[in-house]
Amino acid sequence: ISPSSNKLTLQLMLAVGTAVIGSLQFGYNTGVINAPQKIIESFYNETWFDRYQEPITDTALTSLWSLSVAIFSVGGIFGSFSVGLFVNRFGRRNSMLLANVLAFLAAALMGFSKMGSSWEMLITGRFVVGLYSGLSTGFVPMYVGEVAPTALRGALGTLHQLGIVVGILVAQVFGLDVIMGNATMWPFLLGFTFIPALAQCILLPMCPESPRYLLINRNEESKAKAALKKLRGTSDVSADMQEMKEESRQMMREKKVTIPELLRSSIYRQPLVIAVMLQLSQQLSGINAVFYFSTAIFEKAGVEQPVYATIGAGVVNTAFTVVSLFLVERAGRRSLHLIGLLGMAGSAILMTIALALLNQLEWMSYVSIVAIFAFVAFFEIGPGPIPWFIVAELFSQGPRPSAFAVAGFSNWTANFIVGMCFQYVERLCGPYVFIIFTILLVVFFVFTYFKVPETKGRTFDEIAAGFSQRAAGGVEKNTEELNHLGDSQL
Ligand code: GLC
Repeated sequence: ISPSSNKLTLQLMLAVGTAVIGSLQFGYNTGVINAPQKIIESFYNETWFDRYQEPITDTALTSLWSLSVAIFSVGGIFGSFSVGLFVNRFGRRNSMLLANVLAFLAAALMGFSKMGSSWEMLITGRFVVGLYSGLSTGFVPMYVGEVAPTALRGALGTLHQLGIVVGILVAQVFGLDVIMGNATMWPFLLGFTFIPALAQCILLPMCPESPRYLLINRNEESKAKAALKKLRGTSDVSADMQEMKEESRQMMREKKVTIPELLRSSIYRQPLVIAVMLQLSQQLSGINAVFYFSTAIFEKAGVEQPVYATIGAGVVNTAFTVVSLFLVERAGRRSLHLIGLLGMAGSAILMTIALALLNQLEWMSYVSIVAIFAFVAFFEIGPGPIPWFIVAELFSQGPRPSAFAVAGFSNWTANFIVGMCFQYVERLCGPYVFIIFTILLVVFFVFTYFKVPETKGRTFDEIAAGFSQRAAGGVEKNTEELNHLGDSQL
């Protein structure tokens, strides 16, 4: 059965657009701490002096700063892991609404930290907004995946990533010292999180609940139908309803799947390994080495205006997410992910060459800019957007929340590791630091080539059926079959 309407209706755009405000918040808080580092550090220094009548030591300052940066991903780890506690109890939409309590709290803590002469407030605020972001990385792709018609699921799923990259870019621009990245304005820069939270609170009540949640989890058929009619802009939603009922029937057998059950069950092993590996490929590609430290990287590469090169990376990042948006329903997830990983590996090699030859050839600093821009561009072709939304595609309604929790947890943990370790490893490896990412990228390429099936154009139910067939069939037959898991075979 093919679902009825694949139209991009106004209601659908409103629903998806409102949801991805959560992605915007995540991106904003990923990028916001980069530019004003020096200024906030001097606030830490002054506050320290007022309290202890002596200047802060370098080590104490570095530790406080690293903590301020990295605690965001610690919040993300906890938040993403808790997704399952909310989505079935409160529904997808109301979970997103509820999470805004955290965004408001974080905005207040960070925005008033200067007034309160307290770095503790700022660091706590970063943790709380990390919690919010971790929850969002589950809530948003899940909701979007569930409300989207099959033929638009990839394109709409990519909007989560678009929200993130726009958030990063806005933060980079607002962080310029002429805008808010200065000694008086930085509390506003951080407190700005308040505004998207408010917008989301106003808009979410106008958005429908996920019809899949209403039907499959709540068994409220008429409500599900009404929500679907709004989203699809047509009164004939029978094909969609039938497809969901099919999924629901499967659910009767599998029920809600807890995280331990998910980890133990052999039926879910394969999609779970794929989901986790894709998350790891996103983070261990080294992308956040760029988004957390690009200014410092460009500075070392001899670029004269590193802040502008950083904003350039943000622009390329956004542009190529848009490119991916248009490609993902044509080229498919698998090929775009492969192209992205390979391109990133090539760019990482180019970056290594540029950094290694910098002392001999001055113009290598330009090559380094090209290399970083290409690295970012290839990232957004596949490894950026795809891992987020493919989790919704790889699992049916029963295990989906737990799968999001495990996938999100892997993603945020890897994010934390890169954020914490990159600068230390760089000190050890010098210009060769990107070689590590090259090796990892090649490993993920090989994995994707052999293990990741195409999910484009297939209903959730068909995808799940494909996996359970294979689990039931026992040992995988040959790589040829895995490579070409086309629609025909499933
Ligand atoms: C992805 C990653 C995030 C990264 C961003 C860069 O969304 O999850 O960590 O900062 O892409 O665009």
